[in-house]
Amino acid sequence: MAQRKKLIIGNWKMNLNVHEASIFVHTIAKDVAVHRDVEVVLAPTALALQPISLQINRRQFKLAAQNFYHQDQGAFTGEVSATQLRGLVEYALVGHSERRHIFHESDKDIRAKVQAAIRNHIKPVLCIGETAQQKADGETNDCLHDQLVGGLANVTSEELEKVVIAYEPVWAIGTGNNASPSDVEKATRAIRSQIKHLYGEASAESVHVLYGGSVKADSAATYLQVPGVDGLLIGGASLDRQAFLSIVSKAHGAAATQDASA
Ligand code: 13P
Repeated sequence: MAQRKKLIIGNWKMNLNVHEASIFVHTIAKDVAVHRDVEVVLAPTALALQPISLQINRRQFKLAAQNFYHQDQGAFTGEVSATQLRGLVEYALVGHSERRHIFHESDKDIRAKVQAAIRNHIKPVLCIGETAQQKADGETNDCLHDQLVGGLANVTSEELEKVVIAYEPVWAIGTGNNASPSDVEKATRAIRSQIKHLYGEASAESVHVLYGGSVKADSAATYLQVPGVDGLLIGGASLDRQAFLSIVSKAHGAAATQDASA
């Protein structure tokens, strides 16, 4: 079986202006090694995508949009479409819990965005995860099932090859309450089993599944070793130069270990 690449995505959310984002990239670039089995992806403010795209070595960094609108063009004041992002970004986050909970995006909106990303040759990173209440009620798997089925309806098995799934429990985001490795392993297994049910064994083996939620430099290696976890989606720690570099180097280490044991 082909090795799945490690993916480290830094989601800067609504932090850093264009100038600060550019300086941040400049300061980490000299310390991020290029590794064929690790992809380092930056998701800055939409305003910084264009200037940063001109600044980066695309073998070293890829870019992701944090959000976009599902229509390709038209009278949608204030929105940015996947068509406008095409060529600029390799990935786009879809269904992030902040979009679901603060901006009330529904599974229908999220499904339309997944479709728009695929149509525009952008890989959607479909974010799913349960709330604290759902976890307490034992509804984690049901929630993951519903968000997967909701987000992936209409996605063919060929298109699924471009989709990344990120497991981000809502209660773990920005709270410091990170999920235990065994919780993450269980959720990852539930996700792959659902993908297997929808698309078959080969897709379940090849789909990339990330973990996100309060990952820090000192917890990254633990998550990267959880069976079935192919990388990390990082918020707060991605804005800390040392922490982010340390996480990237741990992904390099995890990829190298897998290479050696392959
Ligand atoms: P934190 O790492 O700050 O918890 O954020 C996680 C996240 O939402 C990444 O998309």
